[in-house]
Amino acid sequence: MTGATEPMLTADARARTLVSSVTERLRTGGSPSPRLDAELLVAHAFGRDRTWLLAHPDDALAPDDAARLAAWVERRANGEPVAYIRGFKEWLSLRIAVDPRALIPRPETELLAEAAIEEIAGRLVRDDRPIAAWEVATGSGAVTVALAQRFRTSVALGRVRLAASDISPEALELASENLAAHGLAGLVALGCGDLLEPAVLPAPQQPDVLIANLPYLTTEEASAGTGSLRFEPRSALDGGADGLDVIRRLLAQLPARLAEGGVALLEVGAGQADAIRSLVADLPMPAEVGTLADLSGIERVVRIDRA
Ligand SMILES: C[S@@+](CC[C@H](N)C(=O)[O-])C[C@H]1O[C@@H](n2cnc3c(N)ncnc32)[C@H](O)[C@@H]1O
Repeated sequence: MTGATEPMLTADARARTLVSSVTERLRTGGSPSPRLDAELLVAHAFGRDRTWLLAHPDDALAPDDAARLAAWVERRANGEPVAYIRGFKEWLSLRIAVDPRALIPRPETELLAEAAIEEIAGRLVRDDRPIAAWEVATGSGAVTVALAQRFRTSVALGRVRLAASDISPEALELASENLAAHGLAGLVALGCGDLLEPAVLPAPQQPDVLIANLPYLTTEEASAGTGSLRFEPRSALDGGADGLDVIRRLLAQLPARLAEGGVALLEVGAGQADAIRSLVADLPMPAEVGTLADLSGIERVVRIDRA
């Protein structure tokens, strides 16, 4: 896009004025967070982060950059997520590259990553043998990047084996790019395929820690025509009529595939934990189920401990 084809946001290209005019444009465009979006996009147009704006309210944007900003604002007003426009998401203090190949990592998934880190760290203290951790449905690779960064040394020493997989080759490509961008290429075995199908661990090793944020929206929720969801891959969102189709299939694979004494950590949707408790109770596998709640008290992570 060139400046000639983009509407002017304002004749005054100072940061402070741009933030105000972009906020107004996005408010009328229906963004649920117009001020935040405006600050992110304006700062990005300056090649800076949001905090920089506070100290530089009177810096002016060059005309070419103002034209790029105007194009981004129209994309945002059309519902596209800011993260896709900027090309990255700040998540768990990491810069994760994102684009329509994969879901944008959500703040609630930080809880899943933290639980996985705590679990692996605890096992490293208790256990002498190598610990195998596998993130199924890695998407952008955000959780796996966090794990590989935290356990880089243990992986190098052979104390931890990390694996990640996804059914989408495009998502897996993005995950691989994110690992490389963080200097973590080669630390994680990657595989493409349905759930636990990919051979990412050397046989007969089974995962001690299985981590998954599978699609858990209902088809109806995933199809809702408005908002940012329509820009994200449908296969990352749609969990079938009750949202539990993919999770149900993974649970059914646990008795044959989760190591004795292993744990599965699953992110779930609000209100789904009880259904998962019942599904686990029906498995031919003795297991204990616990949950971790997010800051709003919603049970977000289900923890399944195989006896
Ligand atoms: C909700 S996204 C989670 C992505 C990433 N782990 C995150 O938390 O941001 C779900 C991911 O599951 C993948 N997926 C969907 N069905 C799958 C299946 N049957 N087997 C493996 N991965 C699947 C999608 O491609 C998508 O990347």
